[in-house]
Amino acid sequence: MPTVQFDVDGKRVAIDASPDMPLLYALRDDLKLDNPKFGCGLGQCGACTVQLDGVPVRSCLLPVSAVAGKQVKTIRGLGTPEKPHPIQAAFVEEQVPQCGYCLSGWMMTGAALLESNPKASDTQIREACAGLKCRCGTHVSILRAIKRAQTKMA
Ligand code: FES
Ligand code: FES
Repeated sequence: MPTVQFDVDGKRVAIDASPDMPLLYALRDDLKLDNPKFGCGLGQCGACTVQLDGVPVRSCLLPVSAVAGKQVKTIRGLGTPEKPHPIQAAFVEEQVPQCGYCLSGWMMTGAALLESNPKASDTQIREACAGLKCRCGTHVSILRAIKRAQTKMA
């Protein structure tokens, strides 16, 4: 099987895989990263979202061959417990987490938006988050947390 090399959270990795295997499988099965999550596997929930060169992507749909030589960032690459990314801190402060299954996708999406568009309007935030699902129904507090992170990053 061909070897695909790319960076995950700043570290170079090499995966032996079929080129059309989803990136999500490489992250979870080969690299044993427990985030992102497998939700629908169909690009319809966003639980698997990671950043690819700073852009949020659904890793359940993206073939691993498409990330060769690129930078993948998961929530582990956003911040640490000692020094969280503003969006991680805001999700805690707004007490967003319920089961937590969806949160990686929302934070990777929100962080990418605020880094590319620090003055994003409420409409732009909602548009960026379109398609992300939270089965625990925390959508309102998630949007509040993204706004809080935006203030922190200003
Ligand atoms: S698991 Fe990828 S979008 Fe649902
Ligand atoms: S917090 Fe449970 S799915 Fe979102």
